Amino acid sequence: MQSQKFHPALEPLKWLVGKWKSIKAEGQFPTIKPFTYIEELEFESVGQPLLNYQSRTWHPVTKNPMHFESGFLRIDPGTSNVAFMVSHNFGLVSLEEGNVIGNTLNLKSKSINRMIFAKEPAVTEITRSYVFCPDSKRISVVVSMATSNTELHEHLIVEYEKV
Ligand code: HEM
Repeated sequence: MQSQKFHPALEPLKWLVGKWKSIKAEGQFPTIKPFTYIEELEFESVGQPLLNYQSRTWHPVTKNPMHFESGFLRIDPGTSNVAFMVSHNFGLVSLEEGNVIGNTLNLKSKSINRMIFAKEPAVTEITRSYVFCPDSKRISVVVSMATSNTELHEHLIVEYEKV
């Protein structure tokens, strides 16, 4: 790869760029037992007007791998409109859209598709909010989902610091 220059279209997302590690990651949903996990994620700029995205999680005690995501976060140049394309290791692909206003990025699924042999229940909606706190230099993230059985509810509440 040649160009590592930061694309000017990414200016509104500058605060998100880089590698982040969870300092507190909690999971919950009305149908499951609450859990904790460790996560490392990266929004990488390679010079294009988009960020390459990767998230890896593992169990805090056994260190076993858990949920993995990879995709791309795009911005419509000159606007606050963003699109997040994500593929999840459990057989789901989501297209989420939203906007970045100041230090907050909000996303909501526009389409979700899943492989034929994905486990039930089906995910029917995903929302995410990323908030950067300039004082602590940390990012707080809340991911909510709805399924074929359960209405929209928080699934993940995470705080990250820069690696
Ligand atoms: C947008 C991202 C995610 C989606 C759409 C998602 C979806 C789901 C769904 C549909 C369930 C089953 C809920 C039910 O049975 O009612 C579930 C459970 C669970 N999720 Fe997630 N998840 C996501 C991210 C994560 C992450 C990052 C972790 C962290 C490791 C995680 C860990 C778990 C665990 C431990 C369970 C309960 C055990 C199980 O049923 O396998 N999830 N998730």
